[in-house]
Amino acid sequence: MDFIDKVTVVTGGGQGIGRAIALAFGRCEADVAIVDLNIDAARSTAGEIQRNGARAIAVQSDVSVEAEVKSAVSQINGAFGRVDILVNNAGICRKVTVMDISSEEWDRFLAVNLKSVFLWSREVLPGMIERGYGKIINMASSAGKLGGVVAGSHYAAAKAGVICLTKSLARYAAPHRICVNAVCPGTIETELTSAWGEETKAAFAAAVPFGEFGTPEDVAGAVLFLASDSAKYITGEIVDINGGLIMD
Ligand SMILES: NC(=O)c1ccc[n+]([C@@H]2O[C@H](COP(=O)([O-])OP(=O)(O)OC[C@H]3O[C@@H](n4cnc5c(N)ncnc54)[C@H](O)[C@@H]3O)[C@@H](O)[C@H]2O)c1
Repeated sequence: MDFIDKVTVVTGGGQGIGRAIALAFGRCEADVAIVDLNIDAARSTAGEIQRNGARAIAVQSDVSVEAEVKSAVSQINGAFGRVDILVNNAGICRKVTVMDISSEEWDRFLAVNLKSVFLWSREVLPGMIERGYGKIINMASSAGKLGGVVAGSHYAAAKAGVICLTKSLARYAAPHRICVNAVCPGTIETELTSAWGEETKAAFAAAVPFGEFGTPEDVAGAVLFLASDSAKYITGEIVDINGGLIMD
């Protein structure tokens, strides 16, 4: 796949799945903006892309704060002129029961995992519509279909919201030939899941037909496909990447 001259934004690109997605776009010669709360991590991803010969910038931003989203998009427009591909990947997760979630934590999880997708999509869609080209790929989760088994109920509810928001955005953008899709990972080996502890991870892996966790690169492959011209007639789709955990 080649993404030469395609300006791609990956939120939460400082580590884990987002980093793998950003590096994969860089290898395909996209111009990549890595947005993350953790600017050092974002710079590290951008540096690796630059060393491999593609253009990349790091932008510090909290994806859940409207003013910071606007400022990030204007920095990206200043550097690269537009946004062609948006990957709404940033997210937070915690192993917690519903009874132990405060209302402040509930609001924060909904803001980072769901409101961010609305804020970022609303910010970039007008430019995509004007240019008649755009791809948005959102990060859902199997928790958004199953309910949170390990992940908290706020996380699961937010990811279910991401699935439905993806379909609403897809309907809105389809007349402009802009595709909006989501990927729905099961359990992927990252720092997010390493926080669960070895016992929980082993139990989870045993429940997956493949018998093991996926890798960030497994998710990146599906994201790049959805962003490519090979997927130009696919919109409103939720692509499972879960080793057979859910087959629907
Ligand atoms: N790892 C899994 O098993 C799994 C499964 C399903 C879905 N997901 C989803 O994939 C995405 C990435 O997960 P991961 O495992 O790579 O997580 P991770 O914790 O390893 O990385 C998340 C990145 O997002 C950044 N981030 C967090 N909050 C932010 C904010 N408010 N603003 C900007 N950046 C922020 C972090 O700094 C970090 O770099 C998340 O949306 C997650 O919910 C992960």
